[in-house]
Amino acid sequence: MPPGMQAASLNFITNGSPMVSSGQRRKILVTGGAGYIGSHVVKALIEQGEDVVVFDNLSTGFAWSVADAELVVGDLADRGALNDLFGRHQFEAVLHFAANIWVGESVRKPAKYYRNNVANALNLFELASDHDVAHLIFSSTAAVYGQPDVSLLNETLPSAPINPYGASKTMAERLLTDIAATSSMTFAILRYFNVAGADPESRIGEATPFNNHLVKIALETALGLRESMAINGTDYPTEDGTCIRDYIHVEDLAAAHVAALQHLRQGHPSTVCNCGYGHGHSVREVIDVAKEITGVDFEVREGPRRPGDPAELVADNTKIRSLFSWQPRYDDLRMIVDTAWRWERVLFDRRTSRDDAFDLRQSA
Ligand SMILES: NC(=O)c1ccc[n+]([C@@H]2O[C@H](COP(=O)([O-])OP(=O)(O)OC[C@H]3O[C@@H](n4cnc5c(N)ncnc54)[C@H](O)[C@@H]3O)[C@@H](O)[C@H]2O)c1
Repeated sequence: MPPGMQAASLNFITNGSPMVSSGQRRKILVTGGAGYIGSHVVKALIEQGEDVVVFDNLSTGFAWSVADAELVVGDLADRGALNDLFGRHQFEAVLHFAANIWVGESVRKPAKYYRNNVANALNLFELASDHDVAHLIFSSTAAVYGQPDVSLLNETLPSAPINPYGASKTMAERLLTDIAATSSMTFAILRYFNVAGADPESRIGEATPFNNHLVKIALETALGLRESMAINGTDYPTEDGTCIRDYIHVEDLAAAHVAALQHLRQGHPSTVCNCGYGHGHSVREVIDVAKEITGVDFEVREGPRRPGDPAELVADNTKIRSLFSWQPRYDDLRMIVDTAWRWERVLFDRRTSRDDAFDLRQSA
């Protein structure tokens, strides 16, 4: 696909008053904007009237998920292509989602993670700073905290990652901090907890099949794409013995990015914020809700703990709520599972009707 190709327009409807009027549109670069979270953020930015360019190598992303934005197919490793891109557009802001994201794979292939999540991020951060980008928003993760001995995590905890994925994000956070210190670029590092759910109108959603996100696994099992699913550990010191995680709806996460951009545009200094709801759900709770919403009593096997899984990881979200005036709209496990389920059925129907846009070889 040639650089600068225009992706198919999905014509998202704008709701609410736009953040930017058409006379003063400033370009925003979104790396990884064809992926799960990036595509929801692109949609949210476009709904606010922003002018968005997506840069993505489509390794795990999909051209069809980019709505009304220019899609440039390219790789962050290609410094020349990136430099050309910055030369062609005067980006006011960069939102950086492009990365490899699987903890298990990062243990097996650490170099892949350090190359893409650190070395390639360095290309981007350096070029953004050199080209006078005013603001950068970076997708980080709760994995930077490792296995803390507290269950409610705030941003002052030290980074102590326990796998190459978390370490690569910690390193990228540091690179960004040091590079931004040499220019006037301000940044927001957003540390996501467990992202789930999909566009309420089922136009986009998580499309990488057979990955290891709990909600997706449960729904694929309900659809019969998996014979059964496993619970990894039932003897944790939690009420029902299974791990507790903070599940955040991808639409609320997208709104957090829009709010972070607004915050930086108002001239506030760089910041690091957790993105989560401040309360969690156990693995059993998620499975029970998935069974209730789908109406399928799928098979669940109980297995041993996985090494490195803390009993409970929940975001202290005081900072993002107060700093960005961020108000979640989808803080409800049923709503998360319901939107994900509706999307999963759209995907299933498209796959079974042999739509080439869905490539099942892209499994994690
Ligand atoms: N999904 C989660 O629960 C979660 C949790 C915490 C943090 N994050 C972070 O959020 C970001 C987005 O995650 P996602 O779930 O949307 O993953 P995803 O795999 O759906 O999206 C990543 C996108 O980046 C693109 N990409 C990867 N490497 C690239 C490169 N070298 N050049 C150009 N494009 C490249 C892929 O094609 C894909 O479109 C990642 O940085 C991830 O670490 C995700």
